[in-house]
Amino acid sequence: MGKLNGKVAVITGAASGMGRATALRFSQEGAAVVLTDLNSHGGEEAVAECAAAGGKAVFQRTDVTSEADIQAAIGRATREYGRLDIMYNNAGVAGAVGPIEKVTAQDWDRSISVLLRAVFFGMKYSIPEMRKVGGGSIITTASVAGLRGVGYLAAYSAAKGAIVTLTQAVAIEVGHDRIRVNCICPGGVNTPLVHRGTRGGQQGAEERMAKMQPIPRAGHPEDIANMALFLASDESEWISGTAMVVDGGVNTGNIRFRVPEAGFSGPSFER
Ligand SMILES: NC(=O)c1ccc[n+]([C@@H]2O[C@H](COP(=O)([O-])OP(=O)(O)OC[C@H]3O[C@@H](n4cnc5c(N)ncnc54)[C@H](O)[C@@H]3O)[C@@H](O)[C@H]2O)c1
Repeated sequence: MGKLNGKVAVITGAASGMGRATALRFSQEGAAVVLTDLNSHGGEEAVAECAAAGGKAVFQRTDVTSEADIQAAIGRATREYGRLDIMYNNAGVAGAVGPIEKVTAQDWDRSISVLLRAVFFGMKYSIPEMRKVGGGSIITTASVAGLRGVGYLAAYSAAKGAIVTLTQAVAIEVGHDRIRVNCICPGGVNTPLVHRGTRGGQQGAEERMAKMQPIPRAGHPEDIANMALFLASDESEWISGTAMVVDGGVNTGNIRFRVPEAGFSGPSFER
């Protein structure tokens, strides 16, 4: 018996990274999944993976900056599978990067549109469908960058921070309808968003990211998929309005460093 038997999910950004890993995980646990993304090739590949795992899955090309596309994706779920239980707002980009004084208004708006406005649409259009079936689970990928700002990623940090409070606000509004609203705050997860175009590619990122946090390995999409599964399943039925941190411990603020020799470190002026 799968943890999501009989449930229907829509996942945005499901052609790659965390969304793709989550689509596969949900399929393995018995959910029917509508995978959505801008990337049709990756989306169709991901659908084939879900089918190979015995799941029911379809791809719907969706630009999350389009209100109509998000409505259509949710419509596809109810038309194809008869209901909607789980909405995972996950699509993302790094967006506007660089010093704040060099960020253009256009790049700021594009970042907020993909990262935040899309989440509002995902919530707005999934809630009525979840009410019809007596409840549901809305999940969003925020970030540890939404808990502590990251320099040169101001628009991203602002959008992710806003997701944390949007999650709380909407959780209050829909709790009586047995609809739960939670977000996940990943730390450094080795996905194309991070390793695309970086030195050493995926392997180089794996090694660099292993040094970032107390648990000495990079995060993997499956780490996030496991949390999404928990939040989607009835095991978390009394959990709402939360920001679940999945980050190898990086949000402690304790960046891992070389173990110093044991001893006493006195005033710095004494050397
Ligand atoms: N990788 C990390 O370290 C990290 C950390 C914290 C949060 N996140 C967040 O996790 C989420 C998933 O990212 P990922 O790391 O798996 O990256 P990814 O690039 O592997 O996946 C993101 C997916 O979103 C899709 N996408 C982008 N813009 C879109 C749009 N307008 N409409 C529809 N789809 C669109 C991309 O095509 C891609 O398939 C994002 O919200 C990201 O901000 C990532």
